[in-house]
Amino acid sequence: KILILDFGSQVTQLIARRVREAHVYCEIHPNDVSDDFIRAFAPQGIILSGSHASTYEDHQLRAPQAVWDLGVPVLGICYGMQTMAVQLGGEVSWSDTREFGYAEVRAHGHTELLKGVQDFSTPEGHGMLKVWMSHGDKVTALPPGFKLMASTPSCPIAGMANEDKRYYAVQFHPEVTHTVQGPEIFNRFVREICGCAGDWIMGNYIEEAVARIRDQVGDEEVILGLSGGVDSSVAAALIHRAIGDQLTCVFVDHGLLRLNEGQMVMDMFAGRLHAKVVHVDAAAQFMGHLKGVTDPEQKRKIIGREFVEVFQAEAKKLSNAKWLAQGTIYPDVVESGGTKTKKATTIKSHHNVGGLPETLGLKLLEPLRELFKDEVRELGVALGLPPDMVYRHPFPGPGLGVRILGEVKPEFADLLKRADAIFIEELRSTIEPNSGKSWYDLTSQAFTVFLPVKSVGVMGDGRTYDYVVALRAVQTSDFMTADWAELPYSLLKKVSSRIINEVRGINRVTYDVSSKPPATIEWE
Ligand code: XMP
Repeated sequence: KILILDFGSQVTQLIARRVREAHVYCEIHPNDVSDDFIRAFAPQGIILSGSHASTYEDHQLRAPQAVWDLGVPVLGICYGMQTMAVQLGGEVSWSDTREFGYAEVRAHGHTELLKGVQDFSTPEGHGMLKVWMSHGDKVTALPPGFKLMASTPSCPIAGMANEDKRYYAVQFHPEVTHTVQGPEIFNRFVREICGCAGDWIMGNYIEEAVARIRDQVGDEEVILGLSGGVDSSVAAALIHRAIGDQLTCVFVDHGLLRLNEGQMVMDMFAGRLHAKVVHVDAAAQFMGHLKGVTDPEQKRKIIGREFVEVFQAEAKKLSNAKWLAQGTIYPDVVESGGTKTKKATTIKSHHNVGGLPETLGLKLLEPLRELFKDEVRELGVALGLPPDMVYRHPFPGPGLGVRILGEVKPEFADLLKRADAIFIEELRSTIEPNSGKSWYDLTSQAFTVFLPVKSVGVMGDGRTYDYVVALRAVQTSDFMTADWAELPYSLLKKVSSRIINEVRGINRVTYDVSSKPPATIEWE
């Protein structure tokens, strides 16, 4: 196993992720853990992380002496390289100007870490790496016993190694995806240099997480807001595995879920997993509060507020509960950690189950905090959740409330649910021949929007005057920008004809061909 010492970088979790991708177990701990802790941990290798943006004031952070006494391989990254240099007798020049972004690094000599690892070679035959740099300070003199491993014109010592001791360090960031050979570099370090077996799989994460949850919770009771979304579902399944009936899930059904979704959630958690689930059917209450409200922001606020109220009322009934469990995942942690620049205007006030107030007076249990979305999905499958559920497109907290434009009425919700189910069914069953994947898997998010306007149509011999829906399907990697999906005409044709024939009350189907920006993915 690998010990990652965190000096406060924003991307330390990415290091852990790369190590897990190499199928090796790792843990992140603060850089100032004790020597005894490190000896007891008995790592096969240690990675020293970078540090956050203003390293300048913090350049006194050091790795504990045990790191150098254990005799195991050490990899220093960015600040980790600098502290390695300082602690082992080299020199660093501290500066407050930064070099940031893409760089091409020349790999020198034949170190175990970088031998033969390259993206291209220069006409002179030098191996070159395409990397991501983000640093101000840099190493200016190698410590005794070290040789040069990498360099750039502006950073002559961009990598160093003491191969007798198996110490390696790089100034660039191999953990970010912009460093093309990053996965290979981690693979080499943890598997070849540290000799870790590479037999760790997501399934093992379950055991570790189960042990941690039991340890944290003891015999106390936990409540969790189940939404049917991936994160809360995986968190529920994991916690249920750990503590069984000490967990109560509260599933607030606001009546704005997809067709049969409430039933599916109950079948899965109460039926198959035998978890305790309180199903709160609050549809009437939500509809009541939404009556006559047309403004999108106001609708969002009402749904968010009602959700909290209903949940709180249920939580109060479970008076033994000491913990509130949430499916917070690592990107949520980063987002709420204030690393994003403050938006000048609120585009949309997002709400999800994660946003419950602290007034409940409960301790927080967040077992997915360290994981990325795709790892959460993998974990869900390993826990036995159906892949269809785990690989579902994201669904917004306010649900169909933001997909029924203007006032939300029960009859609109009913039409929309049925039209949307047809769209999704056809996306799932239509295979794109080149990739062999379904159009559902080829799109990042797809759904139907209800437009509360009527248009004229003809059906049989009669005139119709019915509602319109819009189909929306987008492709995106981060949901910050998105392209509308170029679905085949034949698929659109089939969906349109099925909706108009099967959902009485809708006589026109349109396809949304707007990208984000300037449009957003949801219509409200
Ligand atoms: P927009 O419409 O802003 O959506 O382009 C970007 C992504 O966010 C989802 N979304 C939400 N998710 N609570 C959520 O949990 C919300 O209030 C919310 N509003 C939008 C949207 O579905 C898309 O994936």
